[in-house]
Amino acid sequence: MPSENELNESTGAFERVAGEEQSFPTPPWAEQTRTPSMPEYRRRWEKSIADPESFWGELARELVWDRPYDTVLEWNRPFAKWFVGGKLNASVQCLDKHLDSSATDKTAITWIGEPGDRRTLTYRDLYMSVNKLASALKQLGVGRGDRVAVYMPMLPELPIACLACARIGAIHTVVFAGFSSQSLRDRIDDCGAVAVITADGGWRRGSQMRIKDIVDDAVKGASSIKHVVVVKRGGVEFPHSMTHGRDVYYDDLLSSADDFAAPEPMDSEDPLFILYTSGTTGKPKGIFHTHAGYLLGTMVSAREVFDMRDNDVFWCTADVGWITGHSYIIYGPMQNGVSQVMYEGAPNHPTPGRFWEIVEKEKVTVFYTAPTAIRAFMGWGDKWVTPRDLTSLRLLGTVGEPINPEAWRWYHKTIGAGRCPIVDTWWQTETGSISITPLPGATPTKPGSATLPFYGIDAAILDEQGNEVTEGGGLLAIRKPWPAMMRGIWGDENRYRETYWSKWDGKYYFAGDGAYRDKDGYFWIVGRVDDVVNVSGHRIGTAELESAFVEHPAVNEAAVIGVPHKIKGECLIGFVSLCDGQRHSAELAEELRDLIAEKIGKFCRPERVMFVEDLPKTRSGKIMRRLLRDIATGKALGDVTTLADSSALEKLAREYRDE
Ligand code: WT7
Repeated sequence: MPSENELNESTGAFERVAGEEQSFPTPPWAEQTRTPSMPEYRRRWEKSIADPESFWGELARELVWDRPYDTVLEWNRPFAKWFVGGKLNASVQCLDKHLDSSATDKTAITWIGEPGDRRTLTYRDLYMSVNKLASALKQLGVGRGDRVAVYMPMLPELPIACLACARIGAIHTVVFAGFSSQSLRDRIDDCGAVAVITADGGWRRGSQMRIKDIVDDAVKGASSIKHVVVVKRGGVEFPHSMTHGRDVYYDDLLSSADDFAAPEPMDSEDPLFILYTSGTTGKPKGIFHTHAGYLLGTMVSAREVFDMRDNDVFWCTADVGWITGHSYIIYGPMQNGVSQVMYEGAPNHPTPGRFWEIVEKEKVTVFYTAPTAIRAFMGWGDKWVTPRDLTSLRLLGTVGEPINPEAWRWYHKTIGAGRCPIVDTWWQTETGSISITPLPGATPTKPGSATLPFYGIDAAILDEQGNEVTEGGGLLAIRKPWPAMMRGIWGDENRYRETYWSKWDGKYYFAGDGAYRDKDGYFWIVGRVDDVVNVSGHRIGTAELESAFVEHPAVNEAAVIGVPHKIKGECLIGFVSLCDGQRHSAELAEELRDLIAEKIGKFCRPERVMFVEDLPKTRSGKIMRRLLRDIATGKALGDVTTLADSSALEKLAREYRDE
């Protein structure tokens, strides 16, 4: 096992989980769960690894196929194809499948707007809107294989837009509506999107967001865009303008559209969507997922991990703009035909009791959120929770970052009243579906551990050289392909190979996370080992922020690091050196923080900008982020022997403390 210091280098999270041994027995609830016991979990898991073809092949019978597949798996490292030769359509799995069942008139989405408005949509309603929008898009000339950007606040039209794209075989690329116009434009340009589906505005923490303005700005420079479809948020006027010939209102489109659009029979391996995510270097990567494998992975994991039942009210608080929303708002829950809550706004508006008020009112049974939210609720105090009747809850989940045991226990006790199992689910944009997780009722949990791999996930811990570590710390890896794994990076096959499969000569998938495995084989995720920072569960590549910093005329060089933060998990600190003749000031620091918020998105605004004369570098000129992290966390400075100029460093550490 490596020393804690080594692990601390990445996030500092390891300290929080070390020595945590306590396990919570699962409640009698377990009697009716889908995986009834640990021996049963092990038996199924072993089968899924030993014979993935028959394991997934059996489950794939539940998908509605237009044409049956010929082969379950073709594995040409590192490229996997699942259900080769099969044809199907994602919107059929989520909607048409329920049409003749009891789910037709069942609520699919109870949407709650931030100021309190409420809409309910049944599965039939969704089906009708999706068909109409699909027909309308076709009339606009959007078709199979075209990319369509979706930039929308949390409105029901967001999943509708995605499913309408899927229905006609267009590839959706949702861009989180917290991203700036430049980030949106970069993504549109990268995939050559032909249309944007958006809204005039939305609410966030009591203020009106002017979404359409951001799209106008983005589209100005994006030559591929031919159409902008605009949903009216409603309630109040959201000021915006429309460009004749390019922009059209969603309502107008739908009113003249056909009621039915035949679902395009898609190849199992045709792309379903692209979702951009940050990596170590350069611009964001367009991770793409395909129809069949992704659908199966999300359907099965949603059902097993969240124990989805007919009468559940599921609430995943993530935004559809991230993979969590794709897999566990759209594709997983909808394939299972459950009712869901979808919420537009912030957790603390108008009061910090907002979420619990919604849980009480809507009788939410399964609740899935991020550790950062849990820590924020802890900070706001139990007084916002205790007056609420939360007895409808039966299962709680977390995702996005390591959960510290203290927050885990608070969640278990204060929200779950000690009754509800907690599923701490580790996965990534790239894995597509939950990959390491307890199975509720079966897996004894330990606060802070994501526990054991899900079916089909052959997880391992390796050291740098590729030796497997059975107990101890190292790098998280996966040995074999799984159905919902990404199929690549849009337009960049080499980068896919390089980023994920080159670390150990193509033998393992490299997740980019540090992790520790205890004597029971439980996984404890430590956090990223690359230059990716996890702020409030949002994944941010520091390289992107650094290039945004140096676009400012006063800035010479910049290094951005993540340091532990009580609520956000991590926060961003920018170290900036200025060009000759430029003077640093509090105003300039503020200006630079604003610049990042404007260029990338508000959620990326650095906590602090620190001016330095020179960034610490090795003799070969590499910025030593480890030292910057030591400085920012107030640690004794580690090994500085490779540093080109070590005298400046003590000075920097002093200045950081004193500023
Ligand atoms: C990174 C992936 C997929 C969900 C949302 C984030 C971190 C995710 C956990 C967890 C510890 C976690 C990892 C991972 N992460 N879940 N339960 N425990 N860390 O998706 O934006 O692709 O980020 O989030 O560092 O690599 P993403």
